[in-house]
Amino acid sequence: MAGKPLKLSDTTFRDAHQSLMATRLRTEDMIPLAEEMDSIGFFSMEVWGGATFDSATRFLAEDPWERLRSFKSLMPNTKLSMLLRGQSLVGYRNYADDVVDKFVERSAENGIDIFRVFDALNYEPNLERAASAVKNSGKHLQLAICYTISEGGRMGGDIYNLDYYLSKARSFRDLGADSICIKDMGGLLAPYDAFELVTAIKAEIDLPLQLHAHYTSGMASMTALKAVEAGLDILDVCLAPLALRTSQPAVEPIAVTLLGTDRDPGVDLDALLDLGDQLEDILPKYADHLETPRSAVIDARVLSHQIPGGMASNMVSQLREADALDRMSEVLEEIPRTRADLGFPPLVTPMSQMVGAQAVNNVIFGRYTVVSEPVKEYLRGNYGKPVSPVRGELMDRLAESEEISHAPERPGAVLEPELEAAKEAVSDLTDDIDDALIYALYPQTGERFLRIKHGLEPVPDEMKPKTLEEVRQAARSSQSAAPAPRMSGRARRFNIYVGDQFFEIDVDPVGGGSGSVPVASSTPASPAAQAAPTQSGQIEVTEGETAVISPMPGILISVSVEEGQAVAAGDPLLVLEAMKMQNTIPSPVDGTIRAIPVVAGTQVVKDQVLAIIQS
Ligand code: CO
Repeated sequence: MAGKPLKLSDTTFRDAHQSLMATRLRTEDMIPLAEEMDSIGFFSMEVWGGATFDSATRFLAEDPWERLRSFKSLMPNTKLSMLLRGQSLVGYRNYADDVVDKFVERSAENGIDIFRVFDALNYEPNLERAASAVKNSGKHLQLAICYTISEGGRMGGDIYNLDYYLSKARSFRDLGADSICIKDMGGLLAPYDAFELVTAIKAEIDLPLQLHAHYTSGMASMTALKAVEAGLDILDVCLAPLALRTSQPAVEPIAVTLLGTDRDPGVDLDALLDLGDQLEDILPKYADHLETPRSAVIDARVLSHQIPGGMASNMVSQLREADALDRMSEVLEEIPRTRADLGFPPLVTPMSQMVGAQAVNNVIFGRYTVVSEPVKEYLRGNYGKPVSPVRGELMDRLAESEEISHAPERPGAVLEPELEAAKEAVSDLTDDIDDALIYALYPQTGERFLRIKHGLEPVPDEMKPKTLEEVRQAARSSQSAAPAPRMSGRARRFNIYVGDQFFEIDVDPVGGGSGSVPVASSTPASPAAQAAPTQSGQIEVTEGETAVISPMPGILISVSVEEGQAVAAGDPLLVLEAMKMQNTIPSPVDGTIRAIPVVAGTQVVKDQVLAIIQS
């Protein structure tokens, strides 16, 4: 029997799939593993929060509250933990205190035992309200220190040195933390720095200490071992099939490494291996999201670009959607520059999305030509105090166009209550408080989810789960693309005219049914020229006109101009929510709005015409 067994916290059901497969793992695929996971003897399991709440409602047509209740009933012996972004909860902006209080209360009542709360800037006032809400719920409050470095690859320097982290540990203890977590989202904590950091915190702070590290750079298992040697109490791990890469260290080698030592966690290796096999069996369903063009399991470059797991997989999938994957390397180079401009914020949600999306904007539109709304809010101080000063020229540039208000000490304190308005807004759909919270967190995608949930809209095909058999069938039919099946006597020849181009195609119904004829998609990709017809084919752009084209897929939040209105280059035209944040699309030219062929609240695709301006 080990003298001081290491406690293990498993992240397979939350951070592991968030990091490796864009948070797409469905409840139905976790449920079969749940009871066995519960019997392993994990100290806790992180199963909720972070991006899972957004992903479930936005992409999977799944009720996140229902997921939590399922876990609670299937895993009664293991404490369930969630990741909470302080005043931003599981969203991307600060919410009013009444939403924070109610969300924490409902999370506790639905099954969360441990709340891991962090703020992207480690800014204490942003943690206060969520911390007291957790305390009021009687649950375990864990405050997490976001670990990052400024430059040089190691802890130290003027900003992120040992004193900085010790002072955060002290102030988090004083906020009432029941435990402290070192949250290394970028995999940047080097093993010997971890030894020094854990030793120092354990010597001074009399609270359990947990390490959450991502494997991205390749250091996390070594870092974990040195942290354990320095007296770490709890370590985050996950099952091997969803471990390493941008995820957590794998539990199996850690368990064997510590076997027979004073820190032996005492878990059953065979049971873990069996669970891993079960997980392997379902993962082929998610091949689309797991795919990576890289052969390296680690990304040593993270030591320079510092992009955390969730952000990396998110950016890859967003850039792929925007058909701009070829600009990834430019974006990666731009990220450290953007981060330095913004005062070296730790790259964790929402700062990671803000820096990432701003870097994408900087690459696509030119540096700070389009500044996202959240970045403006950050510059106004509404996300809290930046860790180090924001670059002056950026502030000057913003100040030119608008007044920068005086930053509040606690940003959440100046927000008017939001919960009643949210309840009212969905009152014709539901009177369930958990539903109202979904809407309060994400008005656009949340409302769409609620309409689906309550049967007012069908579940869109892309949100439906796939079975293993469907995935295998799709794989078989893509493999059978060559050799092609022999053309049957039912095949018909069609002439297709696209502009001045002409195609001849044969269409042969699959399976001999009398169903619909497959749609030919051999149209050559139009480079979305300014004078091309729009996707709908209804609006022509004529000479002297400029089409404003959506740079990426997203949801059109609002339109700030109307037809016939005169605009100057740079004037805001529309607000598009893309990469999970709102971006103002400016007018590229001086002129008059001739047409706005889009409606606020609807989904737009990349290259869709949003407005036509007559010069
Ligand atoms: Co993480």
